[in-house]
Amino acid sequence: MSLSVLSVASEVYPLIKTGGLADVVGALPAALKPHDVEVQTLVPGYPRVLGALTDRRQLHAFEDFFGGTARLVAGKGEGIDILALDAPHLYDRPGNPYVGLDGKDWPDNAERFAALSFVAAEIGRGTVPGLAPSVIHAHDWQTGLVPAYLHYGGVSGARPRTVITIHNIAFQGQFAAAAFPKLRLPQAAFSLDGVEYYGGVGFLKAGLHFADAITTVSPSYAVEIKTVEGGMGLDGLIRSRSDRLTGIVNGIDTDVWNPATDSYLGANFSSRTLVRRAANKAAIEERFGLEQSDGPLFCLVSRLTLQKGVDLIINALPNLLARGARFAILGSGDAPLEAALKTAAKSNPGKVGVVLGYDEVLAHMLQGGADAILVPSRFEPCGLTQLYGLRYGCVPVVSRVGGLADTLIDANDAAIAAKVATGIQFHANSVAALEDAVARAMALFREPAVWSQIQRRGMAADNSWHRPAGAYAALFRSLVAEG
Ligand code: ADP
Ligand code: GLC
Repeated sequence: MSLSVLSVASEVYPLIKTGGLADVVGALPAALKPHDVEVQTLVPGYPRVLGALTDRRQLHAFEDFFGGTARLVAGKGEGIDILALDAPHLYDRPGNPYVGLDGKDWPDNAERFAALSFVAAEIGRGTVPGLAPSVIHAHDWQTGLVPAYLHYGGVSGARPRTVITIHNIAFQGQFAAAAFPKLRLPQAAFSLDGVEYYGGVGFLKAGLHFADAITTVSPSYAVEIKTVEGGMGLDGLIRSRSDRLTGIVNGIDTDVWNPATDSYLGANFSSRTLVRRAANKAAIEERFGLEQSDGPLFCLVSRLTLQKGVDLIINALPNLLARGARFAILGSGDAPLEAALKTAAKSNPGKVGVVLGYDEVLAHMLQGGADAILVPSRFEPCGLTQLYGLRYGCVPVVSRVGGLADTLIDANDAAIAAKVATGIQFHANSVAALEDAVARAMALFREPAVWSQIQRRGMAADNSWHRPAGAYAALFRSLVAEG
């Protein structure tokens, strides 16, 4: 029987994206279709979302809505069934979904994302004619209040089942107690058994407390967030609900990320035509101002933050450059890291090329032409760039944490002999371990037969949504059956 799911998130590729969350929210609906799960995706009506919608129709109007009026608009956005919350006073702004042009969080983020969650709960409650999801799938802290609104609001018919997916527990949606009166929750909700968190309001905490099921984006991360170090304050709550927690590794959209058809690549290729990558490598060398060479070219495509271990790369650079490695780095993020990378590029012309900013085309080009991609994260719930690397023959060199531990097989001697290696893993948060991993990659690169075997193994690995979508569908159905 067909199952109707409302997915709720703050971003969705290709309409609006700041990171991997958008990729996942954008790809899951199509992947769930073969499992007879119909998904509608509720997102804030940012100008870019509203501008992309075709077949628009208004489903509902909300008066006196978090300081203004709002409309729920349905439409198609690049093939995805979108429900957009058109509330100009909350979402019609420059900047990205979370911060203004000055890089600072919008001061009313609590209301902005409470509003999104409130509407999801209204839909779950049956307020909007024609919409009756059996399951609401909430993503990250921005939608953490959905299960809380359902809990406190009362539901006349059957209550939809709720799932919250943790994409990154470092972002928890914590606000001062002063935000609470604006959330339209009863006073009783401001308690340990409600949305209260360390004296303020915790959006993710609320979601983890009230959701019928909790998922996160890899099995290893599901283990890590139960520890004090990995749970970042929420580990106790997660441990208490561990019977409701599963880790489902992310897949990738194999149409958007297909080296044989990718229109962003100068030269398309498959595992049988890996030599064609050379033209893409030359294009990167030119774009990043690097000298031409047959030696290995390492890339980075990342938010520039401490989570991603960018500082470890900066500290390892002198040693790695001495060994003859070259680097093409694309990213944006923390100002000190951006500045340090710019300095590194200036001091090492032809060896280190840096492009600061967000550039989807360049991200594809790097995967299609660099020899290896570095992902030295301190923690990584899943990580998608190593999966894109696998598919593009850009060998991932990753720290052994979270999804990075789960999605590739280290090229140790046994794995090479057994012909199963797909990348290189090293101990997280260690400059020495990163240096050693890059040295290993360079040694393997000098053995073309071994290197191309690692590339081909990675390209043959199934990192599509096929299996993970089946796991989500099974979870949704089990919740409804429990209902
Ligand atoms: P996270 O969501 O934590 O940033 P992921 O690896 O899950 O990490 O997803 C990152 C996504 O964002 C990938 O699709 C990656 O290609 C993309 N990305 C990151 N930084 C940039 C950038 N500067 N330009 C283009 N794409 C980027
Ligand atoms: C988060 C995580 C990343 C994950 C992505 C999609 O941004 O940091 O590891 O791949 O969400 O689930």
